[in-house]
Amino acid sequence: MDRIHIYKRGHPHRPTLVLLHGTGGTEHDLIDMAAYIDETANILSLRGQVSEHGMLRHFARISHGVFDQVDLERRTTELKAFLDWASTYYGIDRDSFIALGYSNGANLAASYAFKYPHDLKGSILLHPMSAGQIDEAINLGNVPIFIGAGDNDEICPPKYTMALYELMKHHNGNLTLSWHSGGHRITKNELDAVKKWYMEYFKS
Ligand code: MLT
Repeated sequence: MDRIHIYKRGHPHRPTLVLLHGTGGTEHDLIDMAAYIDETANILSLRGQVSEHGMLRHFARISHGVFDQVDLERRTTELKAFLDWASTYYGIDRDSFIALGYSNGANLAASYAFKYPHDLKGSILLHPMSAGQIDEAINLGNVPIFIGAGDNDEICPPKYTMALYELMKHHNGNLTLSWHSGGHRITKNELDAVKKWYMEYFKS
């Protein structure tokens, strides 16, 4: 499939972390974090296909915090097609995928969770702000979702993260919400909280 990505094979029976970087990032950004969370995991890291003044993103936006809904839906569907393809091409267990998204990547992962609620084993949303428009009938079910956020995040302000949390809760999400005192950057404390959550659900 014609899409820039990195695949690193891990242990065949371990989860596959699907990495979605933030605005202005690349497919390399979250690799070390993923290895810190689970050094035995398979890693599939995708480069965002939208360029905003040269900064890569996973879907287009109209302005800060205002998503291009049509593009978001298209990219969410494309992500599903890519995961289907990667599973066959690399021989990855299709039931092993866990999204790990940061900022814009976390928003795509949130959109994915609503569009395909039982497709992934779990989702790690670091500094998300919105899932875009969603279908009211969705039940997020038992799939564990971790949301990490910063008290002083000016790019994804706490009130937006809270609104997404409440929305996911309303749709029956199995949520873990973790705040840290920093801003938009991912902190070591936050990663430790992710790791603790991950070990609880995906230890073996
Ligand atoms: C987005 O557009 O996804 C959010 O505003 C976060 C970001 O700046 O990437």
